[in-house]
Amino acid sequence: MNVKTVGVVGAGQMGGGIALVAALNKFNVIVCDKSVEQQHKCEADHKKRLAREVEKQRIPAADAEAASKRIRYVHVMDFIKDSDFVVEAAVENLQVKKDIFASLVKMVREDVILATNTSSISITEIAAATELVRKGSAARVIGMHFFNPVPVMKLVEVIKGLQTAEGTTATTLELAKLLGKTPIPANDRPGFVSNRVLMPLINEAFYAWMEGVAEPAHLDEIMKLGCNFPMGPLRLADFIGLDTCEHIMNVLADGLNNDRYRACPLLKQLVAAGRLGDKSGRGVFDYSQTK
Ligand code: 3HC
Repeated sequence: MNVKTVGVVGAGQMGGGIALVAALNKFNVIVCDKSVEQQHKCEADHKKRLAREVEKQRIPAADAEAASKRIRYVHVMDFIKDSDFVVEAAVENLQVKKDIFASLVKMVREDVILATNTSSISITEIAAATELVRKGSAARVIGMHFFNPVPVMKLVEVIKGLQTAEGTTATTLELAKLLGKTPIPANDRPGFVSNRVLMPLINEAFYAWMEGVAEPAHLDEIMKLGCNFPMGPLRLADFIGLDTCEHIMNVLADGLNNDRYRACPLLKQLVAAGRLGDKSGRGVFDYSQTK
């Protein structure tokens, strides 16, 4: 595999995490976010994370400094052209992703793999946007689904689209291993495996809360202590983002054409109220005092 520089599109929680993991594993990284504010936030978060790793004696200070120097923060997509492999981690919106992929395919070399960190959007549909620009490009489009927090979670779900080439899959599996992750393949169906199974569980927790089966803190404690969840499902929903949870449920309901995947009314109501979880300071639980 000849990947030295990894391009990351989107410097949010996931993109930032992917960039940091790549730099810590000795790849050069170009991380691009059109928002300069987000770019600065990402850089500050990296500095904090690296300092924490040194403080905890998990890495020497020199390694943290070297990792930091390997990351370039940019806000214009053109800089991504120097990448040998690109991971897109922008917002979960099909049109936004199609536009990004159509731009990427014009700017990078023809052998560069274009991966998306989508949690539920069809890889085949994203890949189709590249075919319109350059025929044959869908072969190098693939899903590379990381988990939050990226530096901690071991899994990368690798999703082959309808037209993804075998070589693209092989290189992506190899890269994921070089990032210290365990890649596991899945097929391009709504929610893949992880969110097909996880989101209905989270959605069910909202129904249980809505129906008064237990109050949120108790519901979460039951799942933590009784089922060994590191976080209860409602706390996890806040961590993921309630809007993301609702979006994934919509993808499942539409894609699998089955009403049993419809988002719980209470989940929808919280999203409508702007209670999105950790990122807005309040979701199921209130974080206003902890941040
Ligand atoms: N970035 C980097 N490292 C982090 C981190 C972050 N955002 N958050 C926590 N960590 C690391 C730190 O190394 C920390 O150790 P340190 O304090 O000594 O530095 C270590 O994790 C433990 O963290 P905490 O002591 O703060 O808290 P916990 O022990 O409760 O662990 C957790 C936090 C790792 C987030 C744990 O609760 C957990 O595993 N939760 C479940 C997460 C999960 O299920 N993620 C998947 C979500 S689904 C998804 O992403 C798919 C998408 O498509 C929806």
